[in-house]
Amino acid sequence: MDHFQLKNGVLHAEDVPLDQIAAEVGTPVYVYSRATLTRHARVFRDALAILPRTHLAFAVKSNPNVAVLSVLKAEGYGADVVSEGEMNRALAAGMPAADIVFSGVGKTRRELHAAVAAGIGQFNLESEEEGVELAQIAASLGKVAVCALRVNPNVDARTHAKISTGKAENKFGVAYDRAAGIYARLSALDGLDMRGLAVHIGSQITDLEPSRQAFTKMGVLMRELRTQGFVVSHMDLGGGLGVPYKIGEELPTPADYAAVVADVTRDWDATIMFEPGRVITGNAGVLVTEVVRVKQGVNAPFVVVDAAMNDLARPAMYDAWHDFAAVRPTGETMLANIVGPICESSDTFAMGRTIDAVKAGDLGIFRTAGAYGATMANTYNSRPLVPEVMVDGDRWAIVADRIEPSAVLAAERIPEWLAE
Ligand code: LLP
Repeated sequence: MDHFQLKNGVLHAEDVPLDQIAAEVGTPVYVYSRATLTRHARVFRDALAILPRTHLAFAVKSNPNVAVLSVLKAEGYGADVVSEGEMNRALAAGMPAADIVFSGVGKTRRELHAAVAAGIGQFNLESEEEGVELAQIAASLGKVAVCALRVNPNVDARTHAKISTGKAENKFGVAYDRAAGIYARLSALDGLDMRGLAVHIGSQITDLEPSRQAFTKMGVLMRELRTQGFVVSHMDLGGGLGVPYKIGEELPTPADYAAVVADVTRDWDATIMFEPGRVITGNAGVLVTEVVRVKQGVNAPFVVVDAAMNDLARPAMYDAWHDFAAVRPTGETMLANIVGPICESSDTFAMGRTIDAVKAGDLGIFRTAGAYGATMANTYNSRPLVPEVMVDGDRWAIVADRIEPSAVLAAERIPEWLAE
């Protein structure tokens, strides 16, 4: 459930009409609902309350806006970060360093150094080499880095290939069969405190069976390590739970997910860690856009909107579906292709779709844009970087400014020698 509903014929974010935000901020603009963020954070947390010990680390990559992070911090979430930039955002939102997990396949020396210095709670190591490097850095700072080893369980998450991470050929984690040996060698290093295992098989997961398989394999490895005398007190099961992108789509709920986790981990006696992203933020945001014009097409008219693939990359990158709705629907529908203004055919949001009838100047929204939306935006075609707004009841605020192309241009220069 989200808080983007029709009231008196106008789409609102909570109690604020979206056309009011569009009039004052301009379009395209992302709009987030604080109530939806809070609700999703609680639903996920409450579902997992059936487990004895948990740690929730919000996957910052899904929506790194500092206002969003501060809402999640207030709900007791830590953060899962994959760069120094994300780490600094989580810290800026007031999340304690101890509640932050540092993931990522290519953490640089500089990032490892900064994270150790900041007192980050757990490093999810992606390789033996990374562990050796981190041990040296931690020892040189007179500290101990708390770590989990990310394991690739070789399980197909049955999601889009580009967001699948748990198959043997994917770049993530260490091979399942080599994991015990690596864990043993890393446990012997000064500077590291190996306390657990981590796994993440993919994103937008809509079938819980692969997760069950992967978690079960992790349990086998955990027991093997304990039998050999190693400490495994923390098990990080990653994120990945999918969300409905189409109205009426039925997917596993956080409660279904929690039931699978509880079943598999029944006798684990470990703190179970989670890194949810999309399930918290996905349906907490929409992208508001204005129809530039409606142009005749061969099979259906092209509805050209002022949002483009640089603002919302998911349709172009993953053929993702985002529901479209008019802000002031008339009750009429039309068959349309929805496209952005960018000069390539991948700048397409929908083909041959029946949508609310719209004409030039009308406003519409793309739903389920709160995760992997603004954060993946760029300035391609020298377009502005899309702004973000958060709504709370009848209040709202700009939480990220529109970055104008002039600001991007101002950061560029022509070297003197080009003028020679
Ligand atoms: N933990 C790790 C180690 C991850 O790699 C990810 C996502 C998450 C947690 C959070 O997954 P979530 O709960 O949000 O599914 N840009 C793509 C999604 C990329 C996901 C990358 N990793 C998209 O727009 O669908």
